[in-house]
Amino acid sequence: MINIQDLIRPHLKDLKPYSSARDEYTGTEGVFLDANENPFGSIGGGDYNRYPDPYQRKLKQKLAQLKRVPANRIFLGNGSDEPIDLLYRAFCDPVLDEVLIMPPTYGMYEVSANINNVSIKRVNLRPDFQIDLEHVLAAITDHTKIIFICSPNNPTGNRMKLSDIESIVQKAPGLVVIDEAYIDFTPAESMVHELKAYSNVVVLQTFSKAWGLAAIRLGMAYAHPEIITILNAIKPPYNISKLTQEEALKALDLEQEKDLVVKDILDQRRKLIEALDELDLVEKIHPTEANFLLMKVPNAEELYNFLVEEKVITRDRSKVELCEECLRVTVGTTQENDAFIDGLKKYSK
Ligand SMILES: Cc1ncc(COP(=O)(O)O)c(C=O)c1O
Repeated sequence: MINIQDLIRPHLKDLKPYSSARDEYTGTEGVFLDANENPFGSIGGGDYNRYPDPYQRKLKQKLAQLKRVPANRIFLGNGSDEPIDLLYRAFCDPVLDEVLIMPPTYGMYEVSANINNVSIKRVNLRPDFQIDLEHVLAAITDHTKIIFICSPNNPTGNRMKLSDIESIVQKAPGLVVIDEAYIDFTPAESMVHELKAYSNVVVLQTFSKAWGLAAIRLGMAYAHPEIITILNAIKPPYNISKLTQEEALKALDLEQEKDLVVKDILDQRRKLIEALDELDLVEKIHPTEANFLLMKVPNAEELYNFLVEEKVITRDRSKVELCEECLRVTVGTTQENDAFIDGLKKYSK
């Protein structure tokens, strides 16, 4: 069992976090003259003149019930991009430490490393997009503070083998972050429960995909309470707005609705793959367990530009390693998918 205190950057161990007005007085009754707020209400209406709960207690309580995870194992961020950045700041000393990523994968792991001046070790996925376990294990050093595993992976769409993830978690001298942004679209269980015995595992999820709430910016990190404590200590005091907390609380009461939407998306995904299978243009559709698919065509850049002219916007991934001549396409509504297929047919003519 890895001791989290040994991993935290030395200068943060004595950090005295900012103490907000709402940290110093947590009661709900009284005349509040402590936070320099506007007592006359919000311009434009709404009840937004007071600062929100800095620890989002109500929301975490509800999430705890839904996910069967204790509230002290949950951190909420401004999208899951915020915990990614905070993990770097809490655990990686610039220049000295390194992180390990497995391209092709989600771009923010690398961008956050560059912002924080942390070295990156890259071990490409195998041609079948599974983890190259032997080379990953060989690349780990004492300074490998974070290993990022995205499953299902963006942009490839596949899920990583559990046994490979476990081998990495067991060998890692630091944290292993498992990014489950697309977990709702696979039949597989989340690693939140599978790997809870390991103190060094952080599981990321988001409201941006299955919940359809990308605009409210809300991401979750599930981890050992000592990891949550350090993330709370270094985050901006009120990182989740009241509007976001309210919208998320509303959504969590409607989990069945979310499940129905996911079912719709999976239906659309199946139909989209069937339609693409009919087209000679499409050389390969990579197996996907996400709400998008990666497909290979003879000239991805040309097709991308053609589709843009047709007002259908996909993602050209052809410059990404192992994704040569590939477009990444999000599963849309029936009309959106039809427009995409029509565009492909027009291009083929
Ligand atoms: C794998 C992965 N992780 C995280 C994110 C970011 O999610 P959020 O909107 O919660 O910041 C994305 C967004 O596309 C993603 O693909």
